[in-house]
Parts: sequence; structure tokens; C-alpha cells
Amino acid sequence: VELRTSRIRLRPFREADATAFASFCDTDGYRRYLDDNHPDAAKLVTNNVGVDGAWVVELDGSVVGSVFLGDELACLLDPAVHRLGIGTEAARAVIDDGFGRRGYTEVVARADDENIASLRGLQRLGFTRRADGTYRLRRADWEVH
Ligand SMILES: CC(C)(COP(=O)(O)OP(=O)(O)OC[C@H]1O[C@@H](n2cnc3c(N)ncnc32)[C@H](O)[C@@H]1OP(=O)(O)O)[C@@H](O)C(=O)NCCC(=O)NCCS
Repeated sequence: VELRTSRIRLRPFREADATAFASFCDTDGYRRYLDDNHPDAAKLVTNNVGVDGAWVVELDGSVVGSVFLGDELACLLDPAVHRLGIGTEAARAVIDDGFGRRGYTEVVARADDENIASLRGLQRLGFTRRADGTYRLRRADWEVH
């Protein structure tokens, strides 16, 4: 499966993607709000080859990040393309596929309280904060979006 939006393509992981991820996975802009146990580029790719819901984001034919929708939604982009709306655009396509083809009824996300880009993106997509600190979006609310 492949997803497309006006600017980007989302496609499954391939082993050969490790080099592209290695070019930005160690930057502070990428890692700042991630746990210390976030995998390095090689492991990130190996862990996700063949996994439905694990997407590589391509912009103009280049790999610029990833989006995951498993138990939770996560989006991780090369800092070189931050603040262009790519994260929101990519997440929207993945959520749509989750509620449609994959049959999700709710999408759950987490964001560090200081990760403004992530919080703003979730808000823009219609997520609401719950008492347990998670952010949630129900399919019923997405359909009327
Ligand atoms: C979180 C992330 C995916 C956001 O992607 P992005 O493409 O840069 O975000 P967008 O351009 O779609 O911006 C989303 C909103 O945040 C705002 N924003 C983005 N970066 C911002 C910043 N540094 N400071 C303040 N606001 C910011 C945008 O203006 C936009 O708000 P709006 O819709 O009200 O205009 C990206 O910053 C990233 O990959 N960060 C590193 C990895 C990470 O921490 N991921 C989140 C955990 S899963």
C-alpha cells in the first residue's frame, strides 16, 4: 500500500532506507523530545520493514521521515523539513488510512508537554487531551471533520 497527498508519498520501509535515516536521526532537532531508548537509524528501519502502519515519508523523491500508527500515532521528520506542515499532512493521511482501510475506531497519541510542534499538530488534527495525559481522536469525530 502507498498513500499520497499533494506534497508527499508514504510507503512501506525498505532495508535500503537506513542510509537516508542515518543522515538526520542523530540531530538534536530530531531527538530532543524522544526517549533515550529511541532506536538508531539501522534498528528503526530493520524493526519496521514489513510492518503495516509503519510509513516512510518521501518529499520530492527523498526520504524525510516516518509516521507510525500502531497502538499509538507517532511522526518523526528530518529537522530540515520541520515547520512546513509536512508532519500534519503526513499524519492526516495515515489517520485516514487507519480509520478507513485498517478499521481503527480511535487513534491515540502522546506528546511531551514541551514539544510545541507535536502538540499544535495534534490539536490541528482534532485530538483532545484526556485526564491520563494521552491525546485521542475518535473516528466519529474525524468523519465530520
Ligand atoms: C513533531 C513534528 C513531526 C511536527 O512536524 P512539522 O511538519 O514540523 O509540523 P507542522 O509544520 O505540521 O506544524 C504543526 C503545527 O506546529 C507549529 N509548529 C511547528 N514547529 C514549531 C515550533 N518549532 N515552534 C512553535 N510552533 C511550531 C506549526 O506552526 C503548526 O501549527 P499551526 O497548525 O497552528 O500553524 C516534527 O517537529 C518532528 O519530527 N519532530 C522531531 C520528532 C518528534 O519529536 N516527533 C514527535 C514525537 S512522535
